[in-house]
Formats: sequence, C-alpha cells, structure tokens
Amino acid sequence: MRLLFLGSPGAGKGTYAQVLEKELGIPHISTGDLLREEIKKGSELGKRIEGIMQSGNLVPDEVILELTRQRIARPDCVKGFILDGFPRNLYQAAQLKELVEITHVLNFKADDEVIVERLSGRITCGKCSKIYHKEFGYVPEKEGACDVCGGALFEREDDKPAAVLQRLKTYHEKTRPLIDHYREEGLLVEILINKPISEIREQLVGRVKEFLDGKRETIGRID
Ligand code: AP5
Repeated sequence: MRLLFLGSPGAGKGTYAQVLEKELGIPHISTGDLLREEIKKGSELGKRIEGIMQSGNLVPDEVILELTRQRIARPDCVKGFILDGFPRNLYQAAQLKELVEITHVLNFKADDEVIVERLSGRITCGKCSKIYHKEFGYVPEKEGACDVCGGALFEREDDKPAAVLQRLKTYHEKTRPLIDHYREEGLLVEILINKPISEIREQLVGRVKEFLDGKRETIGRID
C-alpha cells in the first residue's frame, strides 16, 4: 500500500501513521520529521528552513521534493509506505504523481477549535518521534519520558499559538484544495477524528486489514 495522509495540522496524521506503520510493516515518512532532523543536525538546509517552520509557513517546494524523492527511493519503501505531510499543495501533488502511484489518500477531518486544543498539549519523543498529549489521548506514563524508548519528550516550537494560527491559515489556503483533487481522482477516504484515539485506531486497522484480505472493495469512510 502506498498511502498518503492528508489533514490539517494536529488532525492526527502522525498518531495514526505510527499505528499503521506497526500493523502493516511499512515505513511512516513524515516530511515534518525529515525537516526537523535537518534542523537538529544543524545542516545548511536545517539553518535555511528553521525560521520558516517556526513561523508556520511551508518550506520551498524544491527542498521538500528532493527530500521526499530520496526517502521513497530507499529499499524499505518497496512494499509500500505512508506519506504524512506531503504533498501540501497542488504543485507538489502533480510532482508526486510523476514519481509514484498512490493507492489511497486518507483525509483526517477536524474542526479548527479541536486542533488548537490538541496542539497546545502535544509532546513528542525526541528519540523515536512517538506522539503524546499532556492531558488526553496518549498520555505518557512517566511525565517527560517516552513509554517506548525512555527518550525525553519535547514541545514543538511551531505549536505555539501564533504559529498554529499561521499553520491553519496555510492549510486552508494551500493544502485543503487537495481534498477535492484526490476525491476527483477516486482515491479519497474520509476519516472523522472526533472520537477517542483507541476507537479510531481500531476502526482504521480493521478496515485496512479487511481490504487487504479481500473482504472489502474499498477502505470506506470512517465516522
Ligand atoms: P508537520 O510536522 O507535518 O506538521 P503538521 O502537518 O502541521 O501536522 P502535525 O504533525 O502538527 O499534526 P498531526 O496531524 O500529525 O497530528 P498528531 O498525530 O501529532 O509539518 C511541520 C512543518 O514542516 C510545516 O508547517 C511546514 O513548515 C513543513 N513541511 C512539512 N511538510 C511540508 C511540505 N510537504 N511542503 C512544505 N513544507 C512542509 O496529533 C496531534 C495531537 O492530538 C497529539 O497530541 C495527539 O496525541 C492528539 N490526538 C490525536 N488524535 C486524537 C484523538 N482522537 N483524541 C484526542 N487526542 C488526539
């Protein structure tokens, strides 16, 4: 399966991509994580994009295209992958089409108010990237440490209120048109996210497995 995860910032793309990565044994490729890795390394690219990401704007298309091209060419992507956070505009979608055929586009639908609440308490492991929340959903057992690998948990710079507002604005202007684009291509699967993580996780994994076992013709809308 070559899956693409769409949705506003904080809609849960990373959370559910981490679930399916484990269940399906295919890599979760988050363009946000790839970019944050560059910043952490202190590379030339990292220095160039740090300010852009902190302000909640999109990094230049050529940067993201090159990173994604290199990543999906790696051998672990032969059986499939989950692309999370790419494409984010119609140009990137057209470029992706030249590169590889996507089998399903999962769109995580959320209201902006829910997003602001979720991002204000998000914490992420600096070592294995597992995503948590301080108050609800996946709350770490021990404060400040990852349940999986013990790594330190951090709050993302772009989860500060001003950056979240800019990210939402960017999403509505540039990324949202991709929903109609992929609906017209017949690839869109809608997922409503106003339920506990455990429920969405169970439904999503169940549907995808039934599809892979030939018990369903499509993954189908999840609400
Ligand atoms: P990126 O890292 O991709 O951020 P994003 O798209 O804004 O998405 P997030 O990672 O913030 O949210 P998510 O949907 O994964 O939600 P999560 O699962 O964490 O990109 C960052 C930046 O990189 C961009 O702004 C841009 O600058 C740049 N960039 C990246 N790709 C680019 C591209 N293609 N082109 C140009 N620039 C690019 O969940 C959020 C919280 O909610 C968590 O705390 C989670 O525990 C909680 N939660 C999830 N589901 C539930 C639930 N059902 N109930 C309760 N809590 C829940």
